[in-house]
Amino acid sequence: KEHLLGIDIGGTKCAVTYGHYSDGGITLVDEDRFPTAGVDETVSAICSAVADMMAKHELTRAQVGAVGISCGGPLDTNKGLIMSPPNLPGWDGIPIVSLIEQRVGVRAGLQNDANACALAEWKCGAGRGTRDMVFMTFGTGLGAGLILDGRLYAGTNDNAGEVGHIRLSSFGPVGYGKGGSFEGFCSGAGITQVARMLVTEKMQMGIVVPWCDAGELELLTAQKVAEEAQKGDALALKVFEISARKLGEGLSIIIDILNPELIVIGGVYTRCKDLMEPQMLETISQEALSNSSKVCRVVGSQLGEQIGSYSALSVAADLWTKNEK
Ligand code: BGC
Ligand code: NA
Repeated sequence: KEHLLGIDIGGTKCAVTYGHYSDGGITLVDEDRFPTAGVDETVSAICSAVADMMAKHELTRAQVGAVGISCGGPLDTNKGLIMSPPNLPGWDGIPIVSLIEQRVGVRAGLQNDANACALAEWKCGAGRGTRDMVFMTFGTGLGAGLILDGRLYAGTNDNAGEVGHIRLSSFGPVGYGKGGSFEGFCSGAGITQVARMLVTEKMQMGIVVPWCDAGELELLTAQKVAEEAQKGDALALKVFEISARKLGEGLSIIIDILNPELIVIGGVYTRCKDLMEPQMLETISQEALSNSSKVCRVVGSQLGEQIGSYSALSVAADLWTKNEK
């Protein structure tokens, strides 16, 4: 059994994880979560969380096989750099791998969060036994991790699967710096924007939205919209319908290009599957080549809220196995 540490850097929260690796399987032992802030503050918070985790479990540097870092892209994984991701403002050219290696004293590896989640679901979750599968993050941002022909496909310079950047509509919520992009419609931040647009329209018509008055508009979250939709509020349901249809459109493009056997969707989708699945599936059946869509299952993440931790540990496991060979 090997001891591994994981660091997941998300747009809104970070996780530091401790786990075991044996017989190709990962066991999550402990995790610590805290909000993401500016670069310096977050890097120090990560380093102290790692030190606390090691102290708590009485781990020495020599006992830890590797540290895996999972982070939203664009990244330069060969050089270990974070290259200005849309959901991490100010993280421009940050040498995260060397920062962590210096402060923790254990070798570290970096992987795009969606790629790392794809590896985690493929090895320990819904994707076990598949050869061609896609993981979609649907968190603060939207990214895809591609397992093709039984291995992770990262692209020429690590940017394969940056599907949040694809424009689905000439106008709409902004994601990845583009109005109407796949990330604009299908992310936590995107759902909030769609909700603000619909609520504002109602206000302009003089209609009161009971769960959001003018003062609350800026404070609105995807979580709040989901709660209202789950209670059956028509406007909140409309927000999820718009997002679900766009999700179906975007997935149809992916299905047409890659012909995968499985698509696993995490984040908001896993939590709000009942609100989104029918319209998403209906759109796929209208848009994608039927020969491809009929063999493609679309499911929520099996690792659920713990996927961030598993994903970072999968990166550590990968690095450790490569170094052992
Ligand atoms: C980033 C992707 C990432 C996704 C989810 C996007 O904004 O560009 O690399 O996978 O968010 O965090
Ligand atoms: Na990716």
